[in-house]
Amino acid sequence: MCYGNVHMPEDDDNLPPLRAQDYSEANDWPGYFAAVVGKEPRETLIAALDAFAREGFTDGLAVDIAAGEGRDTLALLGRGWRVMAMDGHPEAFTHLWPRVPDTLKRRLRTIEADFAEMKIEHCDFVNASFALPFCEPRHFPALWSRIVEAIRPGGRFAGQFFGDRDDWASMPGRTHHSRDQVLQLLESFEIELMREEERDDTPEVRKPKHWQIFHIAARKR
Ligand SMILES: C[S@@+](CC[C@H](N)C(=O)[O-])C[C@H]1O[C@@H](n2cnc3c(N)ncnc32)[C@H](O)[C@@H]1O
Repeated sequence: MCYGNVHMPEDDDNLPPLRAQDYSEANDWPGYFAAVVGKEPRETLIAALDAFAREGFTDGLAVDIAAGEGRDTLALLGRGWRVMAMDGHPEAFTHLWPRVPDTLKRRLRTIEADFAEMKIEHCDFVNASFALPFCEPRHFPALWSRIVEAIRPGGRFAGQFFGDRDDWASMPGRTHHSRDQVLQLLESFEIELMREEERDDTPEVRKPKHWQIFHIAARKR
């Protein structure tokens, strides 16, 4: 597993503070976990859970891919789901486990796994928040096939794809998609939410960038 050699510049009073995006850019996942710990679950996760709830389905098995420090996993557990949380960095789970209420611990399994080797079990829901763009392009097609195969008919996928106009698209090891490619990936799904976010950072950020993000919640046919 390779996270690259991370060197984050020391914080400097003259520079804007380091934010989650700075740690993500550098693949500094411990730094990222510390920057986002305790944040709200993602809108795509909530959209999918609300759609399940409207169908009267509230206690399935979810696989949370690249779960990070666990913002979405905790929300899933809180709403009655069983969760298999996977991440390539062991520190993700040292943030997560102490925050899981004792009564919910038996519903959670955590597995340290790289995208290249992740085995995704048959499930109702795959959640992949801000995860798949960090998979190396050579491993992405197989990973995506495993995700699609794992979700039962009527189950859901939620997560983000980064667009080809996003500044990080030229970074080695990252996987970005055009809008048409995203639609192609989702051809066996009925798209329930597709929000395209395209914007520039304001200049106060340390390293302003252009963002293009597709926020997705979709139901497998
Ligand atoms: C931007 S974070 C997203 C975390 C969380 N899902 C969220 O929404 O905050 C990306 C996650 O991908 C994980 N990751 C990065 N490269 C990975 C790899 N090769 N295999 C598995 N996980 C990886 C990191 O450890 C990190 O938790």
